[in-house]
Amino acid sequence: MGLGKRVMLLGAGELGKEFTISAQRLGLYVIAVDRYAGAPAMQVADANEVIDMLSAETLESVVTKHKPDIIVPEIEAIRTSKLQEFEARGIQVVPTAKAAHLTMNRDAIRDAAARELKLKTAKFAYAGSEAELAEEAGRIGFPCVIKPVMSSSGKGQSVAKKAADIAGCWKYAVEGMRGDTVKVIVEEFIPFDFEITLLTIKQRKGPTLFVKPIGHRQERGDYMESWLPAKISPAQLKKAQAMAKKVTDHLGGAGIFGVEFFVTKKDVYFSELSPRPHDTGMVTMISQDLTQFDLHLRAVLGLPIPEISYWAPSASAVILADRDSEQYSFTGQAEALKAKQTDLRLFGKPTTRKYRRMGVALARGKNTDEARRKARAAAAKVKIEYR
Ligand SMILES: Nc1ncnc2c1ncn2[C@@H]1O[C@H](COP(=O)(O)OP(=O)(O)O)[C@@H](O)[C@H]1O
Ligand SMILES: [Mg+2]
Repeated sequence: MGLGKRVMLLGAGELGKEFTISAQRLGLYVIAVDRYAGAPAMQVADANEVIDMLSAETLESVVTKHKPDIIVPEIEAIRTSKLQEFEARGIQVVPTAKAAHLTMNRDAIRDAAARELKLKTAKFAYAGSEAELAEEAGRIGFPCVIKPVMSSSGKGQSVAKKAADIAGCWKYAVEGMRGDTVKVIVEEFIPFDFEITLLTIKQRKGPTLFVKPIGHRQERGDYMESWLPAKISPAQLKKAQAMAKKVTDHLGGAGIFGVEFFVTKKDVYFSELSPRPHDTGMVTMISQDLTQFDLHLRAVLGLPIPEISYWAPSASAVILADRDSEQYSFTGQAEALKAKQTDLRLFGKPTTRKYRRMGVALARGKNTDEARRKARAAAAKVKIEYR
């Protein structure tokens, strides 16, 4: 083993698992790291480590032990000051240590996008206490959206419809916060027609590329289904691509970015960005030859991306757990796979939690409506049996 470069993956979830497979196919050695044993990417990686990724000391010890050439963050909650140190020592941090740092919390990247780069965003403000939140929400107006600056997958996020909701929203945000910063972002609620993820590939050499726009539907701030291509006008797509190029150029480095936008009749709003593959981008596992994981890898390694070939309109639909359990199994795969051009990815997470994403159904169709119907139908046929 160890013939190719050594990649250390920080965060070993379902996106990391697919990235690991892509990397191994091109001869790389992958060390998967997460805070719990048996994480999806650990099932396929060459080596595993279970550590607290917010701890500088334990990050140092695994890097000293495994000597990676490349560090690929898969989650936000990493001690990013340590990544800057690793980068200074000559390890490639993907896309850059600065990008990982700026996107760890919602505030730094929002400030860069809205204030420095002047991208169109929802009106927003920050608050560090309930009183401050009440004041800023009053200024922005109702309804407004409240999110911890450090959180993901909708955790701690809620909508305040009126001033009386603020106390509850504050409490919910504080409970859903990760890390030690007690700070929320409060945003104008955008009544968008739809939202998209624009997977943006920043190459070392060669132009920035875009995957076709991915439409998605969220519930509780978490993705339920995604499809490609989203029906967006050429003019609006051009606007979104220009914003994505601007913000990814600002962050620098090489790799794929999931850039999220809200689309209304008149406007396109930049919302947020992940400097890595995106959950809604799982649809690329059935829509095209180079998936978001292959594209990320090629960009990271500086390999050519001559073309992305699309097979057909496609969709993904999530398979969620509905309770907490230490033991479970799947049934219904045979039913789900009866439909043509349909597939499953069951992640093999060791335990379930209410609303935890356990798998995803994928489908192609004549158009995105048909692909969505097929993906949802297949997802509904997979049952989780709890023990
Ligand atoms: N200002 C807003 N107006 C309307 N909907 C919003 C707003 N902010 C977030 N949402 C909804 O909540 C989802 C999750 O919010 P997001 O900021 O992307 O957080 P996360 O990092 O958890 O994905 C969005 O995809 C969108 O559907
Ligand atoms: Mg998001």
